Amino acid sequence: MCGHRGKIAKRALVALLVAGQAAAQSPDLAATGKAVFLDLCSGCHGERGQGVNAPEIAAVPRKLVAKAVRGVDQMPEIEVTEAEIDAITAFLATLAAP
Ligand code: HEC
Repeated sequence: MCGHRGKIAKRALVALLVAGQAAAQSPDLAATGKAVFLDLCSGCHGERGQGVNAPEIAAVPRKLVAKAVRGVDQMPEIEVTEAEIDAITAFLATLAAP
């Protein structure tokens, strides 16, 4: 129960951060995207998008991120806002492809 509440609070905080960043078009968008990515995506895709039990997704285009979060084959649907997709894409763009 407590863990669940904590997660909701964390999500609200991330959403707030993302909304603020998107509105300001801040160069820190990638930093916000990193927080969202580490929270929601890194478990499968790795901390640097390098792929753990999911494909490597460093520097993928926004279109692919938007498509993936609706669920593709082995990847479950993940609830993110358009602003969060922007932020995640900005973060992934900072990761050098190997
Ligand atoms: C539960 C594990 C899991 C999580 C969490 C997860 N993914 Fe995935 N993701 C996968 C798997 C598995 C695939 C490969 C899907 C397939 O083609 O079978 C994938 C594929 C993708 C692709 C490539 C799709 C393509 O068509 O090549 C992108 C981009 C992606 N994920 C982004 C994300 C983002 C962004 C998040 C966080 C919001 C995320 N994933 C969270 C497991 C996960």
